[in-house]
Amino acid sequence: MSLQPCTAAATSTATAFASEARAGLTRSGQKSLPPRYFYDALGSTLFEAITQLPEYGLSRAERRLFQAHAAQLAELAPAASVIELGSGSAAKTALLLRALLRQRTVSYCAIDVSAAALEMTRQELAGLPGLHVRTVESEYLTGLDTAMQARIAHGSTLVLLLGSSLGNLDFGASVRFLRHVRGALHPGDHLLLGADLIKPEAQLLAAYDDAQGVTAAFNLNLLARMNRELGCDFRLTQFRHRVRFNRDTQDVEMHLESLIDQSVHFADFAIAFRAGETIHTESSHKYSLTELDRLAGNCSFRSAARWVDAEGQFASYLGVAV
Ligand code: AVJ
Repeated sequence: MSLQPCTAAATSTATAFASEARAGLTRSGQKSLPPRYFYDALGSTLFEAITQLPEYGLSRAERRLFQAHAAQLAELAPAASVIELGSGSAAKTALLLRALLRQRTVSYCAIDVSAAALEMTRQELAGLPGLHVRTVESEYLTGLDTAMQARIAHGSTLVLLLGSSLGNLDFGASVRFLRHVRGALHPGDHLLLGADLIKPEAQLLAAYDDAQGVTAAFNLNLLARMNRELGCDFRLTQFRHRVRFNRDTQDVEMHLESLIDQSVHFADFAIAFRAGETIHTESSHKYSLTELDRLAGNCSFRSAARWVDAEGQFASYLGVAV
């Protein structure tokens, strides 16, 4: 018996989690787990802590860009409907919404796989005058289709994909993803895409392997979550957090490395690990500006504006659907 409230969303998430985790851990070659399962209640809180770490400048860089350019953004994309794919705490989103709300009322729809994140979103945005907030607990693209049906018919739509979330996808999947987003939009609608830029490798590695071990805890929580929700018996002290920069793909990769030869139980079978073997848990792509333009261009967006922070760390790309 599960103590979790048995909502339809919770049940289908548990089933999807079990089958995706099983597939990723039993395939031959590199074991892997999908990064979207990081974000249970504890994982969402740990991610918020990551955004405050001195080593993880990504969120602060994007926030600075919004502080400097939200007014211009609201002029270029005066949307009546805003749809955010992965809203998290929505702390940065509030800056954008305030700028838009100076012009008109706004209908805002947050889509996230994490109920905990959606709760933070609601709290952050409660009390913004003229804002109508909806939340949808689902995958991005399913949620986008739902949100598009409910958008304000008069006025344009702005889709937000912030914080370099697209970077979890490889190049092919990013193209498919953005094409789907474009397909859901109408000409004249906008996409605001946040992208973390290439920087020196030492700085990239530190951002994903902080001195206080918060990112390590975030990564290991995936195993703890499998223990809690899927009845696995991972011993967390027998795995360690690992990061590497993959130069071929320009991705920071997070892994969980088994410290010993061991086997872990998952439902009715055992998964064997060799000492030193890893589970690949996340890739975070680092973009160049030309790549970002080309990527959006390939998906039928025309560049309307692009803001890069003073140190060249992070870019916000505003595309218009053509
Ligand atoms: C939320 C996917 C953009 O890849 O930088 C932070 C998640 N993982 N530290 C990222 C994350 C480890 C983050 N994204």
